[in-house]
Amino acid sequence: MSVSFYDFANLHHAEFKDKVKKRINDIIDNNAFVEGEYNTKFEKEFAQMQKSNHCLLVANGTDALEIALNVYEVGPGDKVGVPGITFYATAEAVLNVGAEPVWIDVQEEDGLLCPTSLKRVHEKHNLKAVMPVHIYGLPAPMDEINQYCEAQGIKVVEDAAQAQGTFYKKDSPVGDSKNLITFSFYPTKNLSAFGDAGCILTHDEELAKKVIVNRNHGRGDEQNMGRNSRCDHMQAAVLYTKLEEIEKFNQQRKEVAKMYHRALEGTPLKALPEKFIELSSWHLYPTQLESVEIRENLMNHLREKGIGCTPFYERTLSQEPALSQYVGEDEIAKKFAGKTLCLPMTPFLTQDNIDTVVSEIKSFFAKN
Ligand SMILES: Cc1ncc(COP(=O)(O)O)c(C=O)c1O
Repeated sequence: MSVSFYDFANLHHAEFKDKVKKRINDIIDNNAFVEGEYNTKFEKEFAQMQKSNHCLLVANGTDALEIALNVYEVGPGDKVGVPGITFYATAEAVLNVGAEPVWIDVQEEDGLLCPTSLKRVHEKHNLKAVMPVHIYGLPAPMDEINQYCEAQGIKVVEDAAQAQGTFYKKDSPVGDSKNLITFSFYPTKNLSAFGDAGCILTHDEELAKKVIVNRNHGRGDEQNMGRNSRCDHMQAAVLYTKLEEIEKFNQQRKEVAKMYHRALEGTPLKALPEKFIELSSWHLYPTQLESVEIRENLMNHLREKGIGCTPFYERTLSQEPALSQYVGEDEIAKKFAGKTLCLPMTPFLTQDNIDTVVSEIKSFFAKN
């Protein structure tokens, strides 16, 4: 039995497709292609789901990060803290606004931004902003980060590209915060468009107004230049339709994570701490191996058996050739990167699927 990494067939089931097609046909008939009624409906309901006051749709998750930095007036001459383990786009956004990324180390047990490293890096580099990333769908330790940043006047942009439905703590979803929080709705995300889309959440009405001006060529404020980062109406219609099932599907991901946690006990794969079972959106199911070599060999074995898996992330950002001139702290990130193997994670995996994955893992270790 093969187990694939994504499952678009079950996600885009017949009833969902019928509903979306009807909505897209209406959009075509009404010639309302950009920023239509589904944009407004989605913004209202996603803000409610994440307990934020304002949701502003934009064209993609990288634009969302850049616009958030623009709104906080981060630009040339400024330094921005970025965790050593994240997708390239987090640092790319910093460079695109003309600022400089400074690496902040991660916590050994989960790969999330380390508040103690943040303090050391800020003392040395005087950061204007920091971008904690809720990587894999796990909540970064925001209580400690917020407390420190508030005292120091550091702006916080939370990169929640992978965290639709993640909770900081019980009853407090990512979004329930004073910061600017950005999401990507790229097709592989838990909540996803049929192309690119993203959004920014904020509690603050003034900041929300600035995002609205910035995403639409600076219209509405002569003093401000903006860009085009509007979200297409068709993408908003897809997102709004998917909102109906996101909480159910995130709950199913949790059940899958529980099954993995149980099944992996006693194997050499290190699963994430139990406290994340209820908090994470389980966008990915990352495990840690003892060495890069074992991770690589296990990955090849699983792929040969038809089991999808990915090594997110093989390198720290400082190890990316285009980013090697930037400095900061990332000693633990360097030990963490390369040893991570993400196993298949979709809302539709069954106990049989998990048993297949784990029995192939066990048969690999029986021979190696
Ligand atoms: C952590 C993180 N930040 C930013 C992005 C960028 O989002 P997008 O591809 O929608 O621009 C992604 C996308 O995968 C991501 O995973």
